Amino acid sequence: MAKAFGNALRPALRKRGMLTDKPNPKLPVLHVVFISNNHLLLASSTENDRSPWPMGIPRLKQDSRAPSRSAMKLDEALHSLMTPAERMELLAQGMQAADLGAAPGGWSWVLAKQGIQVSAIDNGPISADALATGLIEHIRADGFHWQPPRTLDWMVCDMVETPSKVARRMAQWFAEGWCRQAIFNLKLPMKKRWEETALCLALFEKHSGKPMLIRAKQLYHDREEITVFARPLR
Ligand SMILES: C[S@@+](CC[C@H](N)C(=O)[O-])C[C@H]1O[C@@H](n2cnc3c(N)ncnc32)[C@H](O)[C@@H]1O
Repeated sequence: MAKAFGNALRPALRKRGMLTDKPNPKLPVLHVVFISNNHLLLASSTENDRSPWPMGIPRLKQDSRAPSRSAMKLDEALHSLMTPAERMELLAQGMQAADLGAAPGGWSWVLAKQGIQVSAIDNGPISADALATGLIEHIRADGFHWQPPRTLDWMVCDMVETPSKVARRMAQWFAEGWCRQAIFNLKLPMKKRWEETALCLALFEKHSGKPMLIRAKQLYHDREEITVFARPLR
């Protein structure tokens, strides 16, 4: 219904000279939000206070060579939780990363595509396609015990575990200075998801041992989970 409404509204607005033929990012955007069949909200946004994508969803192409559908989550996180300038600065060839709970290797593969060397930590198997990048080393170990021999540029984590346990371990990585930035998932319980989210993010911040920049979002490709981007504040 919303789609059909949009298709009818666009030409009507253009006829009245209220909508350009092509999107112009410099101009305000009109948002029409249906909260029921007969109740809608109108809003306008400017360039710096809106998502650059319709419905806030980046249109990412699924790469058929990706070892898992989870790869889309990290891809989306890199686009949704980081600015283009941050991506330029923080994703560079030759960087080093750890991927905790890596199997079958989707997240490692996304990092390897950026030229980043990855230690893939998981007792499960990593796909041949991921290993074929030549940038992924599979280490069979427990992601809650393994620690890197030196400070890494990145740590990413998709381990299925209670969110508070993950949040504490992620904080330890920053407290110990094992990584410069991280993206991790917190798998939420069926009930009281917001309460659990608030609790885990507070726990993470408290135990990181330094002021942190934290951005968290339930991504389009996330299910009962949120994805967090974190790094120490400069
Ligand atoms: C959702 S899957 C990860 C998918 C992966 N991100 C990808 O893109 O292919 C979760 C993984 O976490 C791993 N895992 C769970 N607990 C772990 C632990 N304590 N140490 C290492 N890996 C663990 C599981 O073996 C599983 O492979």
